[in-house]
Amino acid sequence: MSDTLLRGRTLTFHKSPEGVDDTAAYTYEEDGALLMRDGKIIAAGNFDSVKAKAGAAQIIDHRPHLITAGFIDTHVHFPQVQVIASWGSQLLDWLNGYVFPEEARFSDPAHANPMADRFLTLLTDHGTTTAVAFCSVHSPSVEAYFTAAKTRNMRMIGGKVMMDRNAPDTLQDTAQSGYDDTKDLIEKWHGVGRAGYVISPRFAITSSPAQMEMTGVLAQEHSDCHIQTHLSENRDEIAFATALYPSAKDYLDIYESYGLLSDKMLLGHAIHLNDREVASLASTGAHPVFCPTSNLFLGSGLFNDARLRDAGITNGIASDIGAGTSYSMLQTLNEGYKVLQLQNQSLHALRAFDWITRGNADVLGLADKIGTLDVGTEADVVVLNARATPAMSLRMERVETLADELFLLQMLGDDRAIVQTYVAGAAQK
Ligand code: GUN
Ligand code: ZN
Repeated sequence: MSDTLLRGRTLTFHKSPEGVDDTAAYTYEEDGALLMRDGKIIAAGNFDSVKAKAGAAQIIDHRPHLITAGFIDTHVHFPQVQVIASWGSQLLDWLNGYVFPEEARFSDPAHANPMADRFLTLLTDHGTTTAVAFCSVHSPSVEAYFTAAKTRNMRMIGGKVMMDRNAPDTLQDTAQSGYDDTKDLIEKWHGVGRAGYVISPRFAITSSPAQMEMTGVLAQEHSDCHIQTHLSENRDEIAFATALYPSAKDYLDIYESYGLLSDKMLLGHAIHLNDREVASLASTGAHPVFCPTSNLFLGSGLFNDARLRDAGITNGIASDIGAGTSYSMLQTLNEGYKVLQLQNQSLHALRAFDWITRGNADVLGLADKIGTLDVGTEADVVVLNARATPAMSLRMERVETLADELFLLQMLGDDRAIVQTYVAGAAQK
């Protein structure tokens, strides 16, 4: 495959910026370039220095646009693409009324296959190049997901939800079949190409103690797989979950007592936490995942980012489609900014862009592969236009700094701001 050079304004992060003046946290090139070969970045820097190494590479000139690493979404439900924006209820009623009937359709490959394809197109159209998804309880939904990702050579993480109670019969596995199916899927897909498997007990309400036990066994047997679930999203959910596990000290202790907590663990929402839970998240290295559009949509509550970070915890940020209302990680940042404003916490744009790229890669333990424009990493790249709409263009007339441009993208940007998305070096549009 021939080399490709992308020219534009390049921005990549080395760590989470402490503030707008923390220039050591990132590298920005006004006339920058990336050289891509065989799906990897093989040179990066200012245009002249990269051009000198580029030989006969094809040059794609993206000036004056901004080139960053592709966005990473650390919590999303692939079978909820057709129930996004379903009106009127909070978590448990929303799950029972909309989500469970919808997920039942994913037992059929004739439904799951085209949905997987459309889901991935939506992600790349919004600049997202890696996501961590819950599939439905049915193995065919996972097959559909990973097959579609393989066709596009996307680094995608996914897993079948395990759920053996408090759901319609057609959506239930058993402790044994959930274990067996998960094991088969791990053997078939984990580490194959760019695929990664995530062990996925849905949440304590839909997994019996026997299933939690099996999840703990899976986590031990496959310590290189991620684990994902939901934690403390909604007050009624917490009351129900803790009533189902009366010996647990609190909601987190349900997962903890089955040995699930480690730095491989992703816990969606994690809104209503006590001090013990925060201390335990910190000591185990588990990762809460902030899902702002979802939390506002379902009226779940306000994620306390500063409290968790002050305890030394590294949080992810995610869309949580389909309780989330946008595929765009830019719109996720927009709502995230507002959720934090309500708590007198201010998410500045440099930290925000680090979060949806290198930060989320770090949460996944994948920062050596994705999330930056570093040489040797995979060429998942997004090209952004801060003048994508008339309103953005008008605002840009007064923008003077990189931080202001990023904040404009954070607040007003969406799929219209995505000029191009490259997955392993291949243009998606
Ligand atoms: N808790 C358990 N399942 C789900 C789900 O599908 N979406 C959300 N937002 N919360 C959950
Ligand atoms: Zn979720």
